[in-house]
Amino acid sequence: MIVYLNGRFLPREDAKISPEDRGFLFADAIYEVVRFAAGRPYRLAEHLVRMRHGLTALQIAVEPGFFPEVAVRLLEENGLGRDDALVYTQVSRGAAPRSHAFPPAGTPPTVFAFARLTDPPPPPEGGRAILAPDERWGRCDVKTVMLLPNVLASQRAREADAIEAILVRDGIAWEGTKSNLFAVSGGVLRTAPKGPRILPGVTRAAALEAASGLGFRIEERPVAVEELFSCDEVFLASTTLWTYSLVEIDGRVIGNGRPGPVAVRIREALEMEFRGARVGLTT
Ligand code: PDD
Repeated sequence: MIVYLNGRFLPREDAKISPEDRGFLFADAIYEVVRFAAGRPYRLAEHLVRMRHGLTALQIAVEPGFFPEVAVRLLEENGLGRDDALVYTQVSRGAAPRSHAFPPAGTPPTVFAFARLTDPPPPPEGGRAILAPDERWGRCDVKTVMLLPNVLASQRAREADAIEAILVRDGIAWEGTKSNLFAVSGGVLRTAPKGPRILPGVTRAAALEAASGLGFRIEERPVAVEELFSCDEVFLASTTLWTYSLVEIDGRVIGNGRPGPVAVRIREALEMEFRGARVGLTT
């Protein structure tokens, strides 16, 4: 089988992509599947329009115009020119060291395509289906690499010279693209409850533990966006940040505009725990 990868036609077993490919790391990619009968595509124009729509939405600089020629050549090279065949193509943002926001300009996208016979038609007597909850993508509690929305929001944050984007749905500030979110008001810590809308962060749990140890009251409930602007402190929590204070959100100052004491005290507690745990491990 001959496949197409980044401008070359080559045996499938020679087609290799980097483990740092953003399609693999972040689902930062689009794809199309086009049907061909004896080399004649079905509604190719519509597929190309949809491909362009996706590439534009993701800001991946690839012209869909590559596809028709690649498809025809793949059908020929694989002896499928007279058959009912499918051509699959996938375009990712390319390979780069893992970082949510876009890689440096000039990072080449990954463009892959292959052709194969269509599947045999299903039985003529009809088939069975099941009902399933539509979870596309409503399972933020799973630490999956389905991170494309996080990637796009993270990139917007970077373009706004911000460290994080807070993800808002239904007026609720659920969490960051790569961190959990806390708001502090009058010594009460608020953070979204565990459930399908947030990733249950290890640091979030540790911060809650530390906060209750330090005598703070805790409310695990959805935090409305507006609450962020009237509270004393807002901070993020993650493996990479510990806790990190936000002093401005969407151009509006939070609290007194300086990192608040609660985030600092929790951070100190977590770091202390970590240093202790490290000693524990090495002795
Ligand atoms: N992100 N929420 C989201 C969406 C995250 O991706 C992360 C972690 C967290 C915090 O979880 P924890 O405290 O277990 O790190 C919350 C990692 C650091 C990342 O993607 O780089």
